[in-house]
Amino acid sequence: MSDEELVQKAIEMQNFSYVPYSHFPVGAALLCEDGRVFTGCNVENAAYGSTICAERTALVKAVSEGCREGWLTIAIAGTGEDYCWPCGACRQMLYEFAPRLRVLAARRDGSFAEMELSQLLPQGFGPQSLH
Ligand code: THU
Repeated sequence: MSDEELVQKAIEMQNFSYVPYSHFPVGAALLCEDGRVFTGCNVENAAYGSTICAERTALVKAVSEGCREGWLTIAIAGTGEDYCWPCGACRQMLYEFAPRLRVLAARRDGSFAEMELSQLLPQGFGPQSLH
């Protein structure tokens, strides 16, 4: 699957976002080496802090389906003028499973930029750090 196709899947996931508070839909799509794609959207809550981001929704779907390895790329599509880079909590959660993950951050017009997760979370704390 091309980067453009993965970003398109992330954009489509904005349709499922539950965002009565922020009115800021975000979609995500996580591509694995076996070709599977796990998608997610943000799901907000009246207790605001209980909100889950699109990226973590996709991550939890992957892990709960038995897919913990071989994560290649995650696309994140926001609706703002700026690229939608993952928040700190999502960076940390993703780092656990794929520190070298490619991250594609898209903005409202569908254009996107790329960075590696290890650049977004330098010197990250991961499973190795506990040894
Ligand atoms: N949000 C995401 O889903 N992913 C991000 O990378 C940034 C923020 C969501 C959380 C909340 O529902 C809304 O965007 C505004 O912060």
